[in-house]
Amino acid sequence: MSLWWFIKTLAITAFFCSLASSYDNEPLQDMCVAANDSQASVFVNGKICKDPKLATTDDFFASGLNVSGNAVPVFGIAATIVDVNSMPGLNTLGITVARFDLELQSISPLHMHPRASALITVLEGTLYAGFLASDPTNFFRSRLFSEILNPGYVFVFPQGLIHFQYNVGQKKATFLTFLNSQNPGLVMIPKSIFASEPPVPDGILAKGFQLNKTQIAELQNKFS
Ligand SMILES: *[C@@H]1O[C@H](CO)[C@@H](O)[C@H](O)[C@H]1NC(C)=O
Ligand SMILES: *[C@@H]1O[C@H](CO)[C@@H](O)[C@H](O)[C@H]1NC(C)=O
Ligand SMILES: *[C@@H]1O[C@H](CO)[C@@H](O)[C@H](O)[C@H]1NC(C)=O
Repeated sequence: MSLWWFIKTLAITAFFCSLASSYDNEPLQDMCVAANDSQASVFVNGKICKDPKLATTDDFFASGLNVSGNAVPVFGIAATIVDVNSMPGLNTLGITVARFDLELQSISPLHMHPRASALITVLEGTLYAGFLASDPTNFFRSRLFSEILNPGYVFVFPQGLIHFQYNVGQKKATFLTFLNSQNPGLVMIPKSIFASEPPVPDGILAKGFQLNKTQIAELQNKFS
């Protein structure tokens, strides 16, 4: 391996690392209240900014986190999200908050946020929550970091890592999630694998999961 090749690789890696951390920049101005105009052609971090002279207190205010949303059937989870779409003053600030309500024995299935770490705190009930990180000594394995969480407990899922929350208590569980992106993204692991459009070829899934095609078809039916 020549020194030149090494330096080039290092430079390219550094470039991509700097790109990887370049979303949700520090804002360049005091505020950038999102203007709700889909016809506008200039975008700053996703939305154009309102003229700061026209900003009002309402742009920086939201309500509704005191009540649960409607639970998604099957999973029994309800989400109420306060993000840049419902609170325009959040634009470019790199933060989103959401309230989740989990019915008894319900789960927020394995998922991850490509652009944000998620910090949760339990308000009511008891959760079993955890995330998976690759094992640095063996990349073909992972490590589970998990915890039983009671009211007031705080747990964080590092950016991009697969995680879950499960209601193990005797009543409904309520928790808040803070995400350090205005657009954290959401990848639901089972659905993204078994319910894509177009579908991943069943031969690929069968080989990847060491199952036969009948078993893959069952999973595709379950999640589509
Ligand atoms: C939630 O807050 C809103 C706004 O303050 C209020 O109108 C509503 O009555 C509250 N709901 C509950 C269940 O506390
Ligand atoms: C922005 O526009 C969308 C689509 O018309 C609408 O659903 C949403 O409520 C609007 N948001 C605000 C803060 O006005
Ligand atoms: C697929 O695997 C299941 C479980 O091992 C087995 O019961 C079934 O007969 C297999 N189907 C085919 C078509 O090989």
